[in-house]
Amino acid sequence: MSSLTNKVAVVTGGGRGIGQEIARALAAQGAKVAVVSRSASSCGKAAEEINAAFPGSATAYAVDVADHAAVQELAKTIGEDLGTVNILVNNAGITRDGLLMRMKEEDWDTVLDTNLKGAFNTVKAFMRVLMKAEDPRIINIASVIGLIGNAGQTNYSASKAGLIGFTKAVARELAGRQVTCNAVAPGFITTDMTDELPDAIKEAVVSKIPLGVFGETKDIAEVVTFLASPAARYITGQVIAVDGGMTM
Ligand code: NAI
Repeated sequence: MSSLTNKVAVVTGGGRGIGQEIARALAAQGAKVAVVSRSASSCGKAAEEINAAFPGSATAYAVDVADHAAVQELAKTIGEDLGTVNILVNNAGITRDGLLMRMKEEDWDTVLDTNLKGAFNTVKAFMRVLMKAEDPRIINIASVIGLIGNAGQTNYSASKAGLIGFTKAVARELAGRQVTCNAVAPGFITTDMTDELPDAIKEAVVSKIPLGVFGETKDIAEVVTFLASPAARYITGQVIAVDGGMTM
């Protein structure tokens, strides 16, 4: 039996990149996975690819995690479709980079609404179910940028630092019910998000990574799968950096 047989997982931002890899890795361990992303085409395609490898494991849901009411509705629908949710992975995240001097209010709000309020919305929507589930887990995908900051990313840094604080407070509030809540802080991982960076910036970043390369989506998915498993039952309120040594 795989480590997540009979478990139900929700992965936000599961349409591509790190989220899709996490959804796939959880399915590989036997979980039924709700793949959530903003567009139906993106989560539909990701679910199709996962089902090709692990038939019947993935279901797609097109929802904006920043929309509080829509996320409440999503929790109801997933409960009806897949049953009791055991694992919630808050991975949906966006960037709207620019120096603070030029940053528009809208760039600040949009990033905070998805990256931080999105996690508030999902935890609120699923917490009652998680409190009664077997081996309940909340895993938030933060970023090393939430730990060390980055010029041009005040909004993103604040959202991810906020997500880390949220993780620790949720871990304390829900510990009595054996719900664990941890954050994974990826360093620079090759995805569509980092592909957008100019080559000069990529080279400058690599020079600061002790292991000397960008990470891969699998590096994050492996850690998330472990945290989601029964083996990780005694770990809560932690931030695990998966960053090639950048923040040691
Ligand atoms: P990506 O841009 O490739 O994928 C993000 C996914 O989230 C997409 O499927 C998108 O549709 C979905 N999404 C965005 N906003 C959403 C919303 N409001 N509601 C529902 N779904 C939404 O991003 P990537 O690189 O895979 O990143 C995933 C997470 O990992 C993000 O939280 C990001 O901040 C974090 N991260 C990524 C790093 C990297 O180097 N790629 C480094 C550190 C953290």
